[in-house]
Amino acid sequence: MTIEMKIDGPETVNRTDDMAQGVLGRDSARPDGLAKATGRATYAAEAHPEGMLHGVLRRAPGIGAVRCPNLEAVRAMPGVRAVLRDARMVRNAAQGMADEAPVQGVDEAAYVGQPIALVVAETFEQARHAAQRLEVAIERTDLPIDPDAVEPEVPEAKQSSQGDLDAAMRNAALTIDADYTTSSMNSAAMEPHAAVAEWDGTTLTLRGALQMLRFNRNELADSVGLSAEHVRILAPYVGGGFGSKLGISADCVAAALAAMELGQPVRVVQHRRNVFEVNTRRSETRQRIRLAADADGRLIGLGHEALVSNLPEETFAEPVVQASHFAYPGAARTLGIRIARIHRPAAGSVRAPGEAVGVTASEVAMDELAYAAGVDPVELRLRNIPEEDPERGVPFSSHRLKAALLDGAERFGWSGRPMAPRQRREGEWWIGTGMAAAFRVNMVVEAQARIRLHGAGAVVETDMTDIGTGSYAIFQQVAAELLGLPLAQTEVRLGDTALPPGSGSGGSVGAASTGTAVWLAAMELRRQIAARLGCDEAELTLKDGTATAGNTRQDLADILSGAELTGTGHVKPGDAAEKVRQATYGAHFAEVAVNDVTGEVRMRRMQGTFSAGRILNRRTARSQCHGGMIWGIGMALTETMTHDRRDGHVVNRDLAEYHVPVNADVPPLDVHLLEERDPWAGPMQAKGIGELGICGAAGAILNAIHHACGARLRDFPATPDRVL
Ligand code: MOS
Repeated sequence: MTIEMKIDGPETVNRTDDMAQGVLGRDSARPDGLAKATGRATYAAEAHPEGMLHGVLRRAPGIGAVRCPNLEAVRAMPGVRAVLRDARMVRNAAQGMADEAPVQGVDEAAYVGQPIALVVAETFEQARHAAQRLEVAIERTDLPIDPDAVEPEVPEAKQSSQGDLDAAMRNAALTIDADYTTSSMNSAAMEPHAAVAEWDGTTLTLRGALQMLRFNRNELADSVGLSAEHVRILAPYVGGGFGSKLGISADCVAAALAAMELGQPVRVVQHRRNVFEVNTRRSETRQRIRLAADADGRLIGLGHEALVSNLPEETFAEPVVQASHFAYPGAARTLGIRIARIHRPAAGSVRAPGEAVGVTASEVAMDELAYAAGVDPVELRLRNIPEEDPERGVPFSSHRLKAALLDGAERFGWSGRPMAPRQRREGEWWIGTGMAAAFRVNMVVEAQARIRLHGAGAVVETDMTDIGTGSYAIFQQVAAELLGLPLAQTEVRLGDTALPPGSGSGGSVGAASTGTAVWLAAMELRRQIAARLGCDEAELTLKDGTATAGNTRQDLADILSGAELTGTGHVKPGDAAEKVRQATYGAHFAEVAVNDVTGEVRMRRMQGTFSAGRILNRRTARSQCHGGMIWGIGMALTETMTHDRRDGHVVNRDLAEYHVPVNADVPPLDVHLLEERDPWAGPMQAKGIGELGICGAAGAILNAIHHACGARLRDFPATPDRVL
């Protein structure tokens, strides 16, 4: 009843392009769209179970030992049912993708903003008022908060070196050796983190804003001391995650502990300031990039070494140099990550962890090399496409950078661009264009999905989430394609740990990994239908609700005759990742205007060409690329989380002061998808596209700023003070 598959070679299953119904791949609307647009899709905080109490988190105003001198007085306030200071409610690592995470406790605040109490009351207003009245005394300790002021850890496993880069730098005709910096960033998802917990004495049910349910269930179970089978998490709709909802968060654990203690449902919603202080941020980075090239701009050596930060004992380190392992050639290579242990909020994954900031800096460095060599920036990239993985010597599963560069340059109208900066002026504005390559690793992770086929259609079931990315639409298409059913008769149920465990939404793995599980489940159903028809699966055609094999043709409903067939798919990573290097590629082009008087940068147009295997839904894939490019605008121009120099607290902890691009900041965006089949990506031959669009996007904008006005920025974002 289950097809299980390990991805460890090309074409492990027959390709099914030839049985195409034309459903998979096409521009298909989200089946969840109407419910979302009309407010009928309920998010975590919108659940109102009978007798629900309200919890408000109190955050630490400083770093150090915490005391609450008026705790008993607050407990006696009107409507207050409990003030929890349970050590388990604060997890140091809100990181996810791990079964366990270190517990930090509430007696020591490791960073400003760390939750140290949950106040629960009958109304939200009572809870908020009591939380504000709770006095918090901090015995301040002087722990480091500046990443440049501490001796960083140098984890052995995160360093790699081949050849002699110092010698390559000495002998090279052209060299670049520069430091680039990026800021702390916030995921800034539209839906704040929120949880509603219910406890019936046996089972804990939590509605949460979470990305990775099968991990989150274990994290929550571990946090509150239950076994996982007594924990159910529901997250059918999630209003964006961008990494900040990968791991279980303080609101979830605190709500669960309170519900279990009080025997009543408890809701905890993090307000926007919490979102910025309590949940994971992207680490600021300092990146030293060294490029050694011959006189034609061909790389012979490459160095990319990054300093990132996190709290002590956190396992995550922003993988800044991830793409530098395979993006460009060069026999001499030195790559590494160092970690400064500091007391700012925990650092975790934020939209394309690694490449988003790493490729941005390295693509600016490549632009600097293009200018040093006097070679057109597109041509410089074309000269530096490696034949095989430059570090491991294994082949690429596919490599579409050249195609993306040429397609993008053609559509953008790149040819004939004057190389020199400051060539085009309109009034006060310098106009310039820039480009960058896009790289993002690709992987398949373990995922399961089930399809139940009955007379009226099919139901796809998995605990996979849809965080706005289009999971509902894609899985509907996969199942409808393989089962020959109309989309309207193919229902998708997501976001419930009672369903088979999917991949979760993170690292761009969702569509390809859980999609493959749905694919395998449908293949298993095809096998069962063929058996009922008495034919070979290869002869079977399923179309418009009928099954045809040779001269036999029958309605699916008749074949089922009232029964329900169930097929389960289970995909696991095999050793494909050891045999080939698999990634997705793209090219960004940008045109900007830079005000000569104020230093303001306005986007004029942006274009991206992306290649990420088979495209499952043109609309949702394009939408992901649009989103990535828009985040690129934020990263290039405005986004920066400012930490106070004295205690590291987040100064700009709301969307009024932490600037993400809004409509007026975003120019016309043109996205082109270069369809391909990557046989190493499993039977569906699709790869992740979610995070590709942001990788390098900011680099194209920063390079366009240089072309416009001549300012070569190495500290991002390009705020007016830096541009002038
Ligand atoms: Mo993503 S930053 O792995 O949600």
